[in-house]
Amino acid sequence: MKGIIAAAGKGSRLFPLTSSVSKHLLPVYNKPLIYYPITNLIASGITDICIITNPNELSLYKKLLGNGRDLGCKFEFCEQNEPNGIPDVLNYSKQIFGPVPVTLILGDNIFAASEKILNTLNNKSVKGAKIFVKAVNDPSRYGILEFSENKKILSIKEKPQKPKSNFAIIGLYMFDEMVYDYLNEISPSDRGELEITDILKKYYSKKSLTFDIIRRGSVWFDAGTPESLLKASLYVELFEKQSGIMIGSIEEAAFNQKLITYEHLKKIAGTMPNSNYKEYLIQINKNSN
Ligand code: G1P
Repeated sequence: MKGIIAAAGKGSRLFPLTSSVSKHLLPVYNKPLIYYPITNLIASGITDICIITNPNELSLYKKLLGNGRDLGCKFEFCEQNEPNGIPDVLNYSKQIFGPVPVTLILGDNIFAASEKILNTLNNKSVKGAKIFVKAVNDPSRYGILEFSENKKILSIKEKPQKPKSNFAIIGLYMFDEMVYDYLNEISPSDRGELEITDILKKYYSKKSLTFDIIRRGSVWFDAGTPESLLKASLYVELFEKQSGIMIGSIEEAAFNQKLITYEHLKKIAGTMPNSNYKEYLIQINKNSN
């Protein structure tokens, strides 16, 4: 399974924070936002990752992340020329990976402590498409899934004014290779962009869309607004201080996945400036013994 991170998008809801800084490089407590989705992909066993950025921002991401080889991964970067919507990122990743099954994560989505998600992703193979939903208080902000008591899907709607359920589709999608056919069949919505929910509707019409419900105890943030960005930071700070475990460390994820040895982890940490982040990486081995 290959991974895609959609890190283009202007981040207009975060203006003026995003007027000169790319949204996915903004801090969530002690790490750049994009570390969190990358960590989730690595933690689910995905090492080939294509990162799609805005034009002119690619060099910033390359500087931050490198080519991934140091982590036992392979990071590829593409600039999305036009803001054509989330599904358009598949046109770019296809050029790199070919028409293969993919896991797509939106670069502003943070999932923490979601064993269920990671286990599903770890299965690696997907038939059709798989999505995850979580109950929210503000359903008009999201793609919404309506389903019956016996989990039969009834409708899918992008940012409905009158939501038929409060289950938001989180920004994590597993697609088989049919996604490229469906991509060619959808057209831009009223706001002039391709919508990821239109791809999901295609799978639904072929009866090949399945979903898991993310229950309480798992945490999900779409850090696309000032409020949710702050909430995500506060959550990460609280969790890390209480547990002593970091969320969103790409190096730790690579170590846990045995992509790198402890010696190599220490070597990477040795290149970092003195910081809590560096100290944390160096003491990881103590905790894992
Ligand atoms: C996007 C998707 C939406 C999904 C949401 C999750 O919306 O279009 O279906 O529920 O991400 O974060 P956006 O936040 O880009 O407006």
